[in-house]
Amino acid sequence: MGDAVPVHPSEDQAADTVRQLRALATSEGAVALARAAELLDAGSDPVAGLTRLRAEVGTDLAGPAWGIARQRRKARSTFGADADRLLFTADTLEQAGRPELAARRAARLLAGGADSVADLGCAAGTDTIALARAGARVLAVDVDPVARALTAANVAALDLADDVWVLPGDAVELVAAARGGEIAGCAAAVLDPARRADGRRLLDPDTWSPPWATVVALLEKVPTSVVKVAPGLDHDRVPAGVEAEWVSVGGSIVEALLWGPAVATTWRRATTVRDGVVSELTADADPGRAAAGPVRGWLHEPDPAVIRSGLVALVAEELEATLVDPTIAYLTSDQAADSPWVTSYRVDEVLPFNLKKLKALLRTRGVGRVVVKKRGSPIEPETLSRQLRGAGSGTATVVVTRVAGAPTVLVCDVVA
Ligand SMILES: C[S@@+](CC[C@H](N)C(=O)[O-])C[C@H]1O[C@@H](n2cnc3c(N)ncnc32)[C@H](O)[C@@H]1O
Repeated sequence: MGDAVPVHPSEDQAADTVRQLRALATSEGAVALARAAELLDAGSDPVAGLTRLRAEVGTDLAGPAWGIARQRRKARSTFGADADRLLFTADTLEQAGRPELAARRAARLLAGGADSVADLGCAAGTDTIALARAGARVLAVDVDPVARALTAANVAALDLADDVWVLPGDAVELVAAARGGEIAGCAAAVLDPARRADGRRLLDPDTWSPPWATVVALLEKVPTSVVKVAPGLDHDRVPAGVEAEWVSVGGSIVEALLWGPAVATTWRRATTVRDGVVSELTADADPGRAAAGPVRGWLHEPDPAVIRSGLVALVAEELEATLVDPTIAYLTSDQAADSPWVTSYRVDEVLPFNLKKLKALLRTRGVGRVVVKKRGSPIEPETLSRQLRGAGSGTATVVVTRVAGAPTVLVCDVVA
């Protein structure tokens, strides 16, 4: 998932890109794109492929078609069959969220009956498409003309143009003008601020575009709204009455969301998607911190959505588990857990962190390959894993952490 501020060196360059995108949306453009895709799929190298494409479709279409076809190839793993109908620039593909999560957001936002939504910063239109597919009329605005051209072309390509209006607009001004729970005549809003500039993450929400003040104002003025924020957002920033949700897919955090008061149903929510199965853990109030205790037979690594949402204590209660250290998010209990909230490891050995002793232990147990995990330790997992490589054919997971404040190694899941 990306969130870059699309930076165009000049208005001329943006105007050029818009012209090229419009040319690609014609029937000649479609032929050029299809041919570029064929050449790329056949493994043509860029110089030979582009030379051939220029000869076949002309210089004006060849370069842009080649560029878009490359983005489409990259987009296939995320966008599936739609990828070959959509237009993305490198910037907007990097910014695009996952379509299945955009669909989930759209369904929840519209569940209360809202039928018109303002997408405030549409980029290539991932949210706009999801909202239109969920049955809403969508006003898609962006300050960037390239983003608007992409969204217009993409909704047309997916036969959604009748339900989408793409217009220039500044989210800051639209939010400032919002009245009576509506924004720009719409009953609901989606805001996904740009959170990168010059290839770097903008850690301070006040520097996002639009900035934090607009996020807060939107949530207050348009209660049927959802804002995508950085997963590292400080809990203290979440306004009262707003639900904060962290979503992970396959064990990695992919997005964090703030739900306006009309759609909020809880205080915090952790959502995990594992092998396509969606599980949700909610708390109406801060569950506090889990108790700490000695390492027992199983170690449980909470999913990052559980950790970021501050719900580790709920999981500890469910698993009858305790923390290995008051400051570290590893849980321990007597039993394995069949739970969407944790990954469990059987603990075979617990020893103070000492490289020589650890190597000797692994040698004795016939372990020659390890996966290293760490929390609360400065070690480099890849480096330690290399250092621990040995002649044995056995495998193990080595967890380097703190237990009751002391640097400790847990050797888990030893298979000799
Ligand atoms: C992170 S992207 C949105 C990505 C989109 N939701 C998706 O999943 O494809 C942010 C977009 O907001 C636009 N933007 C930034 N500041 C804006 C503002 N003040 N008003 C309107 N659009 C803005 C950027 O041009 C960019 O296209």
